[in-house]
Amino acid sequence: MISQRVKLGRLELRNPVLTASGCFGYGVEFDDFFDVHELGGICTKGLSLLPRLGNPPRRVCETPSGMLNAIGLANIGVEAFCREKLPVLRERGITVVANVFATSLDDFAELARRLDRESGVHAIEINVSCPNVTHGGIEFGRVPELAAQVTARVRSVTSLPVWVKLSPEAGDVVAVARACEAAGADALSAINTIRGMSIDIERRRPRLANRTGGLSGPALRPIALRVVWEVAGAVSIPVIAIGGITSGSDALEFLMAGASAVQVGTANFADPCAAKKVADGIREYCERHACNVTDVIGAARHP
Ligand SMILES: Cc1cc2nc3c(=O)[nH]c(=O)nc-3n(C[C@H](O)[C@H](O)[C@H](O)COP(=O)(O)O)c2cc1C
Repeated sequence: MISQRVKLGRLELRNPVLTASGCFGYGVEFDDFFDVHELGGICTKGLSLLPRLGNPPRRVCETPSGMLNAIGLANIGVEAFCREKLPVLRERGITVVANVFATSLDDFAELARRLDRESGVHAIEINVSCPNVTHGGIEFGRVPELAAQVTARVRSVTSLPVWVKLSPEAGDVVAVARACEAAGADALSAINTIRGMSIDIERRRPRLANRTGGLSGPALRPIALRVVWEVAGAVSIPVIAIGGITSGSDALEFLMAGASAVQVGTANFADPCAAKKVADGIREYCERHACNVTDVIGAARHP
C-alpha cells in the first residue's frame, strides 16, 4: 500500500500538498469545488491582530507566466477568523496552518497566543517576507537576527509548531534560514513573492496602484527551486516549498530537491481544483514507481 503521508516535525499530513497563504481564502470557500479535507492542509490568508483593508486597487495584474499582487495583507483579523472561519474548518477536520503578519514583536506574540488558545489550528506560519507593506513584512525577513527574534518570541508563547516563511529578497536566505532554525523554528516555508512591476503604456502609469507588487506563478518556479535546494541543504528542519507549482510534476521537482511538502498558490486562481490535481499527480507518480512519497523527498540530492 503506497503512502502519501509526510511528517513535518511533530505534524503529520495525509499528503504533502497544502494551499499557499492568500491564494485560497480561509479554506472554506473552496469546498464547493472539491473536498478540501483531501488536501494535506491549508494555509490561511495572512492574519493580523486587527482587520486590514489592504492597499487601494488595482491590486493584481497578469504578467508572463505569472501575476503581480499588491494586496497589502487585507484580512478579516484574527478574532473574526477564530469566530467565523475556524469552527467550520475544525468541524471538517481540515489541517489548518495560520499564516500571521505583524509590525512588532509584541503583536506577533499576541497573535500566536490568541491562536494557541484555539483547537483546530495545527501550526503557525510567520510571514516575515511580504514585499507589499510599508512596515513589518520583509523588514523582519531580510536580517537573520530580526527573523530569529520574531521566531524566538513566537516560539516562547505557543506550543504549536512554528513555521517561518522566507523571502529570496533576504539577500542571504540561507543565513536567515539557519538563524530561524537556531531560534526554534519547526519548519521553513520558501518562498514568498519577489517584487516586480508592470506599466500600462497607453495610460503611461504603473498597472498597480502600489506601483510594485509581488511576482508569483510559474515565472517564479526556477528561483523557488534553487532557494529550496539551498535551504534544504543547510538546515535539518523540514522545508515546505512554494513558488509556481501547478502540477504533480512541478511539486515532485521540489520534493526531490529536499522539500517535505509543497504549497500551491497562484495556480488556484486559474483552476480552483489545482491543489487537488497536484496531490493526485504526486500519488499517480508514486503508484507508477511503486514508492511512498517519503522515498522521493531529497531524491535528487543523492550522489
Ligand atoms: C494574491 C496573493 C496574496 C498573497 N497573500 C499572502 C499572505 O497573506 N501571506 C503570505 O505569507 N503570502 C502571501 N502570498 C504569497 C503566496 O503564499 C506564495 O508564497 C507566492 O504566491 C508564491 O507561490 P505561487 O507562485 O504558487 O503563488 C500571496 C500571494 C498572492 C498571489
